[in-house]
Amino acid sequence: MAVVKTRLTEQWGIRHPVLCAPMALIAGGRLVAAVSDAGGLGILGGGYAGALGGEPDLEKELALVRGRKFGVGFITWALERASQALEAALKHSPYCVFLSFGEPKPYAKRIHDAGAKVICQVQSLRHAEEALDAGADAIVAQGTEAGGHGANRSTLPLVPEIRDFLAKRAPKTLLLAAGGIADGRGLAAALMLGADGALVGTRFWASAEALTPQAMTDRAARATGDETVRTKAIDALRGVPWPQEFSFRVLKNKFTDEWAHRETEADAARGSLAKAYAQARAQQDLDMYLTVVGEATGLLHDRPSAASIIENMVAQAESLLKRGASLDFRASKVAS
Ligand SMILES: Cc1cc2nc3c(=O)[nH]c(=O)nc-3n(C[C@H](O)[C@H](O)[C@H](O)COP(=O)(O)O)c2cc1C
Repeated sequence: MAVVKTRLTEQWGIRHPVLCAPMALIAGGRLVAAVSDAGGLGILGGGYAGALGGEPDLEKELALVRGRKFGVGFITWALERASQALEAALKHSPYCVFLSFGEPKPYAKRIHDAGAKVICQVQSLRHAEEALDAGADAIVAQGTEAGGHGANRSTLPLVPEIRDFLAKRAPKTLLLAAGGIADGRGLAAALMLGADGALVGTRFWASAEALTPQAMTDRAARATGDETVRTKAIDALRGVPWPQEFSFRVLKNKFTDEWAHRETEADAARGSLAKAYAQARAQQDLDMYLTVVGEATGLLHDRPSAASIIENMVAQAESLLKRGASLDFRASKVAS
């Protein structure tokens, strides 16, 4: 079996340096259990912590991961409205709690007191400072290629810049890369940039165990990476109160074709399409209801098990990293 050892695998006692992102509505207990059983670390998608309704029952999903090493993730600004979800999750003794999109400090001490590690996903150097102030055990540098919510910086320069920042300020803090990592080439690149591991969303979104509707993965499998768009307009129209600095990367559809680049107008019409959007979701009308993926959608052609995703990713990364050591890139064409 392929092995890529890093500080992350050694310190956190996991076999592979691969974490499954806490994708709202997608990373349920089945996927999280499958990732952890395969030697990665699964993080349950706690999403908006139930603050906006319409999410899977967290208790039910938590029951599916019993006995494993797992994490739970929340959208930080939503916890302000629903901190009881964090308390409920902590009762299940997660190994780590993943906070993204908002100020982590109000929650970090509570998480540490409960014996869990704090992972903060950041999109900028300012966020990295906030994560350190909160006492984060690990920082995930999320590039704009990522599926779902995020910001503007790209993975390639953001990861080494945060590595340099951590080297000066907090060398023991672990660093993971996120955004566009979907195979062994991405994992090897992340490690070469100075990350201790990778947080993977889109690739696990299209795994057998994910809660993703099949019609969505069929769409994504046909799409290239050119066919996603990052926009703030949709959250405004559906009335989800995201802070201004974050936007949403999704697969283009009729709805984004009409609105993605009309953000000022959408802001003025805030919430006006909330009902229509909820209806599109109920009917799985994918011309309006969003398929949430990153640019890595162009690398998805199938829906394998989480275990085989991890196995292939690590085997390919191991072979590339070994080959890299020879400094001979003349034959570096690799099948995906
Ligand atoms: C369908 C989907 C839902 C997501 N939901 C969340 C979420 O609820 N909370 C969060 O912190 N990140 C969320 N993300 C972003 C991931 O944490 C991660 O940054 C991203 O998936 C990494 O990039 P990749 O998609 O290219 O692998 C989501 C991503 C996707 C694709």
